[in-house]
Amino acid sequence: MPVEKSVVEALNVHMGREFEAHLQYLSVSSWFDAEGLPELTKFFAAQAAEEHMHATKILTYVQDVGGPVVIPALAAPKASFESAEEAVAGCLEWEENITAHIHALVDLATSKNDHATQVFLQWYVTEQVEEIATMSELLQVTRRAGESNLLLLEDYVARLAPAA
Ligand SMILES: [Fe+2]
Ligand SMILES: [Fe+2]
Repeated sequence: MPVEKSVVEALNVHMGREFEAHLQYLSVSSWFDAEGLPELTKFFAAQAAEEHMHATKILTYVQDVGGPVVIPALAAPKASFESAEEAVAGCLEWEENITAHIHALVDLATSKNDHATQVFLQWYVTEQVEEIATMSELLQVTRRAGESNLLLLEDYVARLAPAA
């Protein structure tokens, strides 16, 4: 089933963003590890694994529609942060950016009458609602706990359902 070249190219570009999110979350996880916060380390490692899945799901779709798969160059993730709040706020900002790109992809697929790609992208639209909700709440709790009480944030993250 043919998918227009411009749509395939846009999907490849977006696959790169999801791989970048994977790397960014690995980087945030490692920063929390260095800070001695094992629950946050695990939480962000799980987020990283999810982002890897988001990227490879696109890779498989592009393969299925005849490709070509072109993995773009990836930007290096941010490695150091001034505070837990800065790290979490950066992740929320990242997710908001990803959401805008997904909506633009849906608009592109719609403009091309590409029903298959529209349906494929619906999963991402819903997933982003969950991602933004999770990260917004984490930021709220981070601020409430404060940098000198990050063990409270550890408790909060430990209580989250292990679905992440
Ligand atoms: Fe994602
Ligand atoms: Fe995400």
